Amino acid sequence: MMKAQPKQETVVVLDFGAQYGQLIARNIRQCRVYCQILPHNAPLEEIRRLNPMGIVLTGGPASVYENKAPRCDPAIYHSGIPILGICYGFQLMAHDLGGEVIPSPKREFGKTELQVLDGGDLFRGLNPQLIGWMSHGDIVRSLPEGFEITSQTNNTPVASFAHRAKRLFGVQFHPEVVHTPWGIEVLRNFLLDWCGCTGQWTMQSFVSSVVPIIQEKVGSERVLCALSGGIDSATVAALVHRAVGNQLVCVFVNHGFLRKYEAEDVRSTFTDHFDMMNLIYVDASDRFLTRLKGITSPEQKRKTIGEEFVRVFEEEANKLGKIPYLAQGTLYPDVIESGTVSAAKIKTHHNVGGLPEQMDFSLIEPLRDLFKDEVREVAQELGLPPAMTWRHPFPGPGLAIRILGDVTEERLSILREADAVLIEEIKKAGLYRQIWQTFAVLAPLRSVGVMGDQRTYAHPIILRAVTSEDGMTADWARIPFEVLEQIANRIVNEVDGVNRVAYDITSKPPGTIEWE
Ligand code: XMP
Repeated sequence: MMKAQPKQETVVVLDFGAQYGQLIARNIRQCRVYCQILPHNAPLEEIRRLNPMGIVLTGGPASVYENKAPRCDPAIYHSGIPILGICYGFQLMAHDLGGEVIPSPKREFGKTELQVLDGGDLFRGLNPQLIGWMSHGDIVRSLPEGFEITSQTNNTPVASFAHRAKRLFGVQFHPEVVHTPWGIEVLRNFLLDWCGCTGQWTMQSFVSSVVPIIQEKVGSERVLCALSGGIDSATVAALVHRAVGNQLVCVFVNHGFLRKYEAEDVRSTFTDHFDMMNLIYVDASDRFLTRLKGITSPEQKRKTIGEEFVRVFEEEANKLGKIPYLAQGTLYPDVIESGTVSAAKIKTHHNVGGLPEQMDFSLIEPLRDLFKDEVREVAQELGLPPAMTWRHPFPGPGLAIRILGDVTEERLSILREADAVLIEEIKKAGLYRQIWQTFAVLAPLRSVGVMGDQRTYAHPIILRAVTSEDGMTADWARIPFEVLEQIANRIVNEVDGVNRVAYDITSKPPGTIEWE
């Protein structure tokens, strides 16, 4: 495992099971300060290993006075490291340092008016009257010694507090959510004024720090990378290529379930644009289609495609002789999900492109500290074309899981064409970047329609377009009717085998983003 962590200003976020934990981390990084999320109970010793300039305690669903409430190592309060507690983190700090936290007679949820009593520290530069986002059932009734109240609301006598000499701060509101638009300033004030950060962490500095780390680790050996067409593997490939040039060998397995033009785009980007000598392209579409014959269950499809992928990849790798390193596009949310924080998983993503377990590789994961939007910045920095940098997320098993029921060549072709029309029109309408993901789904149904004087009996195409921050929750995108109309007209007219178009207006939850 490789730590792509240059010597830099670091802030530690202790996670108490917050809904918005990752959002806090992303906001801190927006202030150009690098941060890492650790579990709430990380011992001070472990925290110190990162040499942090500040600690942020997140919110969480528990109440601090409950027996099983999550705690932090109390030694952090006396470590001299500046601390900002948010919501639960604020209440915990109050409780641990001798203040009192009680159930609030009036719970506060949503936008709330906040009155700043002391604009000197975290509120520097802000108005004394603010609207912020509250979501809590407990309040801090009495302060620990040495603390002062810095803001209040109608129902919350202590909406924030400070102990300046010890550089300890707490806020009941959520500075990290969009409904607290000035919240980022509160975080910035904490980071820059109180932690002493300079805010110089950029993706440019990330690239220049990570390239020599890769070079040092790899030496004169070769590195293998599985390209999928997605932004993560493309960025890893470009980054490793920047570091070790043609010691990088990329294998791009086309399983036949890619979007229209995708395989060609990937090949031309890397061979023409990056002048990558060692790109092995394997068209295995027939092989995958044969393996999928008769399989209709989505989990079975995923499993079969995953296994076949590993087999093809291994065959290719074996031809290449011993390559000690494998570069992978693991991102920070994957690290958090599988490591420190227990997040409920709705669906196992048997990610195509996953590591063949029995193969003996040392991993290179230079993106494992980054969020998706940061990866996009790195991609831009490395000169990947915008079409690839901004491409919507795409599941490893590709179109195969967006065809409900049997996957056949004919169905694939229908879906690929419909999907291409949809994406073209969404781009034409200037909506592509505002939308997290848009795609077409083919349902194994047929219904009666009429075209010209002819009765038709054909498939419906279901359109899906969602907005989201991270794919964990999502809302259906409010695409203008005229754009939907144009998409529907074109699909029915241009794609044989389709006579109807429907638009899915389900959010996640209760739906998922994909249809499978
Ligand atoms: P769901 O359908 O669970 O999807 O709401 C959440 C997000 O995950 C993407 N997804 C995948 N991504 N490999 C991936 O890399 C996969 O196998 C996979 N399956 C789903 C999905 O497109 C959405 O963005």
